[in-house]
Amino acid sequence: MSAAAERTAEPATSPVNIPDIPADLPADLPADTPERTTMYEISGLTKTYTQGKRVVHALAGVDLHIDAGELVSIQGPTGGGKSTLLQMLGGLDRPSSGTIALDGKDLAAMSDRELTGVRASTIGFVFQGFNLIPTLTAQENVETALVPEGVSASVRAERAAAALASVGLGDRGAHLPVELSGGQQQRVAIARALVKDPTVLLADEPTGNLDEQTRDEIVELLEGLWKEQGLTVIMVTHDSTVARRTQRRLRIAGGKLTEIGV
Ligand SMILES: Nc1ncnc2c1ncn2[C@@H]1O[C@H](COP(=O)(O)OP(=O)(O)OP(=O)(O)O)[C@@H](O)[C@H]1O
Ligand SMILES: [Mg+2]
Repeated sequence: MSAAAERTAEPATSPVNIPDIPADLPADLPADTPERTTMYEISGLTKTYTQGKRVVHALAGVDLHIDAGELVSIQGPTGGGKSTLLQMLGGLDRPSSGTIALDGKDLAAMSDRELTGVRASTIGFVFQGFNLIPTLTAQENVETALVPEGVSASVRAERAAAALASVGLGDRGAHLPVELSGGQQQRVAIARALVKDPTVLLADEPTGNLDEQTRDEIVELLEGLWKEQGLTVIMVTHDSTVARRTQRRLRIAGGKLTEIGV
């Protein structure tokens, strides 16, 4: 096409149609900087368990800001509060005090019904023990995550098969958990967490039951999914090798959170 023909064929690209740049853009924000959006804003979070006369301050005043798209690890001693914090982040339990806003909405102030909705649509969970249903196939285990969404059986089947393929298990859908290796079972659990298309993936010791090689494969898989899908990933781990691969490292001990410098 000649230059003249191009000009007449594509008038929409003519400079006169480019909208004016708004004058109120912040002067210090370069045009090519991706906008940071807040995923979690946590303030003064506490969780106290009382058993008889024993009082445990599992979270003793946690303040934390996590942006969308961060890959964060949480380390710390046993009993330090890691799982408790992850449960709060996932709306599985409620704090004793403080606020925990996810995408601007305080989970602590939500009704049970609202919280269930957030968990079903926004948050994927992965656990150390995989937590698969032993009598269901890999495909069926993944499909169960879509039941609360009320989609048809054929859509469930399609999406579950795609999720299994995305974790490298496209050919294992018909296997029961007992017929899969530990690493494969964790891949099924990751597919189950991701089939809902969540924005946040929370993992509690996802590699704790795996040998080193399988651990590395699972961490690579999680990293790949984080990059490709723009997920916010928050992972509890005892393993410094795993934590070192994350962008941001947190530590929680005695219910107090600190950043581990890089
Ligand atoms: N349901 C509960 N009832 C009473 N105490 C609890 C409960 N859940 C946790 N705790 C206590 O809260 C503290 C923090 O527990 P949490 O499970 O968060 O630790 P953790 O850092 O995940 O440890 P681990 O590395 O062993 O998994 C511990 O002292 C624990 O005993
Ligand atoms: Mg724990």
